[in-house]
Amino acid sequence: MKKILVTGGAGFIGSHTCVELINARYEPVVIDNFCNCSPENIKGIEKITGKKLIVYERDVRDNIDDIFEKENISAVIHFAGLKAVGESCEQPVRYFKNNIDSIINLIESMDKANVKSLLFSSSATVYGENNPIPFKEGFPLSTTNPYGTTKLIGEKLIEDACKYLNFKACNLRYYNPINSHESGLLPEKPLGIPTNIFPIIEQCVENDTILTIFGNDYDTPDGTCVRDFINVVDLANGHVKAIEFLETIQNGICEVINLGTGKGMSVIELIKAFEQKKNCKVKYQFGERRVGDIAAMLADVSKAKKLLNWQTERTPV
Ligand SMILES: NC(=O)c1ccc[n+]([C@@H]2O[C@H](COP(=O)([O-])OP(=O)(O)OC[C@H]3O[C@@H](n4cnc5c(N)ncnc54)[C@H](O)[C@@H]3O)[C@@H](O)[C@H]2O)c1
Repeated sequence: MKKILVTGGAGFIGSHTCVELINARYEPVVIDNFCNCSPENIKGIEKITGKKLIVYERDVRDNIDDIFEKENISAVIHFAGLKAVGESCEQPVRYFKNNIDSIINLIESMDKANVKSLLFSSSATVYGENNPIPFKEGFPLSTTNPYGTTKLIGEKLIEDACKYLNFKACNLRYYNPINSHESGLLPEKPLGIPTNIFPIIEQCVENDTILTIFGNDYDTPDGTCVRDFINVVDLANGHVKAIEFLETIQNGICEVINLGTGKGMSVIELIKAFEQKKNCKVKYQFGERRVGDIAAMLADVSKAKKLLNWQTERTPV
């Protein structure tokens, strides 16, 4: 079984990807410093798959050469990173250090160990504010916050690693992953206050509090923001397909690929779908627009379909 090093493998998307890698007969090797997740996720992966996981509680910014020396790694998926847009505006340097230093360190260790295959968790946020929807991979890029800047710089570093260090890589641009494994064993439970919409909705229902929707006067059918919400299990499978794709391409190539559904859903539509699925009522109110939010974000998914032979199979909620 080929070993795939999964940084941030105990986190939300990483843990789901570990499950799908095991289902596809790969062996994930996890590095996580548990700064934004519970070790319970590791137990969840093991329960779902019936397999004991190799886990290193480490920071990707530290020297990780020994892991490459000990494990026979064939490819790396780099999820580890801080991801809260608002927090990145308050603590930009923490985001620069965590998200950019970790990529440089990882590339250095991979190069030393002659491991050249890399998937990187980028984000649709790199399309900035001025592109028409759906977003195509070749569109001009810009960012509106330090988090986005770390993703853009990360993509560029990886592009150069392909060019000058003979890596082969995919910069995968995610949209809005939601939901969780059907077993209920991998809930999206970040440490601290959640910033992604799905755990916020779940928390409001659980605590009987009111959800604030930021803005209902956008140029969208119901006035609320439209996003490309994607079931995290589909997103996890996209990584398996991307690993398989890396096995077919030559070193020196860097592909940028959107991983989304290509279908938009408004925040109100998301809430309605949630209510129907969970048979509950979500109390909500409208608040002011949030700085930096754009009306609609949507992926053009034709490249993922063509290159990876991947498309979503599940409903987001
Ligand atoms: N969830 C989203 O909406 C979304 C959208 C676009 C891109 N992404 C990117 O996908 C990746 C995974 O996101 P997620 O939603 O699973 O987040 P998450 O916070 O659940 O997972 C990230 C994991 O990385 C770990 N980590 C962070 N810094 C680390 C470091 N220096 N060393 C070791 N471990 C470290 C955390 O403990 C956590 O388990 C992130 O890079 C994120 O920026 C997420």
